[in-house]
Amino acid sequence: MFRGMKTPEIVATIAELRSHVAAWRGAGQRVGLVPTMGALHTGHLSLIDAVRSRADKAVVTIFVNPTQFAPHEDFDRYPRTLDTDAAKLGEKADLIFAPTVKEMYPEGFATKIDVGGPSEGLETDFRPHFFGGVATVVAKLLIAAMPDVAVFGEKDWQQLQVIRRLVTDLALPIEIMGAPILREADGLAMSSRNAYLKAHERAIAGKMNVILRNAKDVDQAKRDLLSAGFDSVDYVAIRDGRILAAAKIGGTRLIDNMAI
Ligand code: PAJ
Repeated sequence: MFRGMKTPEIVATIAELRSHVAAWRGAGQRVGLVPTMGALHTGHLSLIDAVRSRADKAVVTIFVNPTQFAPHEDFDRYPRTLDTDAAKLGEKADLIFAPTVKEMYPEGFATKIDVGGPSEGLETDFRPHFFGGVATVVAKLLIAAMPDVAVFGEKDWQQLQVIRRLVTDLALPIEIMGAPILREADGLAMSSRNAYLKAHERAIAGKMNVILRNAKDVDQAKRDLLSAGFDSVDYVAIRDGRILAAAKIGGTRLIDNMAI
């Protein structure tokens, strides 16, 4: 299906990433960055369209970041599909940065970025390691690429707020764009983790967005998630004028949020 299609150049080192960006900058072009963990879906691709509205060149980073997974989480089984990802990107992206764990975390690496404020509560109550890992890797990716603009999805609402805080606090001269959540036909927020769902779980997963949209209050939404077939609810909460939720079906943890 992808035969004959142009795929973006893939580089694995920060030095190569920087030399591409420097060449574009030298030619007066604006550079956009789209950080991902790969297993790309239409939601990821929409981020590239968004960044292209503010940049001439788009760099997609693909790195399954070990520091944002706890030992019991899905780091090992997280899908790694670099060739398919490159084919999906086709001519949409100008460069893929796909570093090794060693390139990002060389021997002796000992720095951790700890963002307070927006990282408190919600995800942190259930994944206390998570935003430390995200902030550290995103800071490193931003500093490595030094783009004019970087885009993050509202799918991970709290993550977007943490990254905005990080960039403001460190005075990084990078514009952070938020991009809307892309959804499947039944409203399920697209996610690389949806690939884990068995058919009956996929049907249950599709109810989360409907329950959040119709929620009268947080406790009722929790009860509705459980009666819809979710095995456990980490949280349903209201913050920043949005309703946010995380719940598990089988071994799969799903998150979603929307304006209320
Ligand atoms: P990942 O889950 O691969 O998501 C990469 C980007 O795509 C994030 O900004 C996320 O919010 C966005 N995204 C995911 N699903 C989306 C959807 N349905 N609609 C719109 N955007 C969507 O988030 C991460 O990776 C990592 O934590 C990362 C920031 C790359 C740091 O490792």
